[in-house]
Amino acid sequence: MTAPILPGSTIGVLGSGQLGRMFAIAARRMGYRVHTFSPETDTPTGQVADVEIQAAYEDLDAVREFTRHVDVVTFEFENIPVTTVDTVAEHVLVRPSGGVLHTSQHRLREKTFLARNGFPVTAFRSVSSLEDLQASVHDLGLPAVLKTAGFGYDGKGQSKITSLSAGEAALQALEAQEAILEAFVDFEREVSVVAARGLDGVFAHYGVIENAHCHHILDVSIAPAAVSPKIAEEAVTIALSILEALDVVGVLCVEFFLTRDGKLLVNELAPRPHNSGHLSVDSCVTSQFEQQLRAVCGLPLGSTAQYRPAAMANLLGELWQHGEPHWPAACAFPEVKLHLYGKLVPRPGRKMGHLTALAASAEAAATLVGAARKALQHDAP
Ligand SMILES: Nc1ncnc2c1ncn2[C@@H]1O[C@H](COP(=O)(O)OP(=O)(O)O)[C@@H](O)[C@H]1O
Ligand SMILES: [Mg+2]
Repeated sequence: MTAPILPGSTIGVLGSGQLGRMFAIAARRMGYRVHTFSPETDTPTGQVADVEIQAAYEDLDAVREFTRHVDVVTFEFENIPVTTVDTVAEHVLVRPSGGVLHTSQHRLREKTFLARNGFPVTAFRSVSSLEDLQASVHDLGLPAVLKTAGFGYDGKGQSKITSLSAGEAALQALEAQEAILEAFVDFEREVSVVAARGLDGVFAHYGVIENAHCHHILDVSIAPAAVSPKIAEEAVTIALSILEALDVVGVLCVEFFLTRDGKLLVNELAPRPHNSGHLSVDSCVTSQFEQQLRAVCGLPLGSTAQYRPAAMANLLGELWQHGEPHWPAACAFPEVKLHLYGKLVPRPGRKMGHLTALAASAEAAATLVGAARKALQHDAP
């Protein structure tokens, strides 16, 4: 058994967004140092890290220099080029491994991995030409969802298509060499399981979280989800099997569709803390970020017990449309917590922060967090 990486050590984070920021806050609280590497400066992670390195992911000299000052590297963003991660791995431990990243950063590889290992997924086809598209639409029927195979997030690079001609236009607009066509899932709800696996193979999970999306972007998450114990057990078992099949050391989130006839289908994997797990920061003994830290450092995992039911609402750039949101109005809800990521430009669809509410039930927490978010808004002039 390898010795754990102890407090006082330095963790390198590839990527510099809000996930890295909340990871860095957890890491610094436990006495670690954090270096972040990304092409930007004054980033959400950089603002709270000890060192912020600005360089392109392709600048392998800068990547090597970064590895000289850290004891282990993790990532907060899955669109890191695999050559970057491979270069890091030549010099220092990377957790989870580059292999996990390689599988989960590409939708076709990910779905192929899932299907081959017997995990339930919606029917899909690889599409790299108009002929492929025609054949795939013929096989899968319409509506269907066309997505770029790589580099998509928050609904970017995907569209629901309802006719072949719309599909052809969408494929051309994607300008992607490789795309995936998925059968549209008429789901009853979407849920996720945020899970962790330690260096010793110990598994921990945060139960089933229910997620509502708006324009393909997560809007509100609540935990615990209103699903039957049987579905909850099934979702957790699938998550456990996926973390084991990928040999994950770290945190991984499994996003699911729950179909109207009660079947779980895996939608996608995120090999890191997930937006739906943000409510663990305020409502659980160990947050998903501390759990990631413990896993990548080879420490025992912490308890995932939830103190109280919770709901999280994202704050997107739109909220700034008519001016700076009324922060004191949200703070006037004593059981609502405000999280802001330090992003300077509030573009529409950009995740700027979130609110978490705690209440006696998940439904009550959802109502509360919705009211607090509404109180932030300015009326249109
Ligand atoms: N095959 C599908 N059927 C129905 N809805 C889908 C499908 N694929 C994606 N969606 C909707 O779009 C959202 C975002 O898609 P997802 O594949 O998770 O991409 P992202 O990487 O942007 O999160 C999903 O959470 C879901 O609401
Ligand atoms: Mg998703």
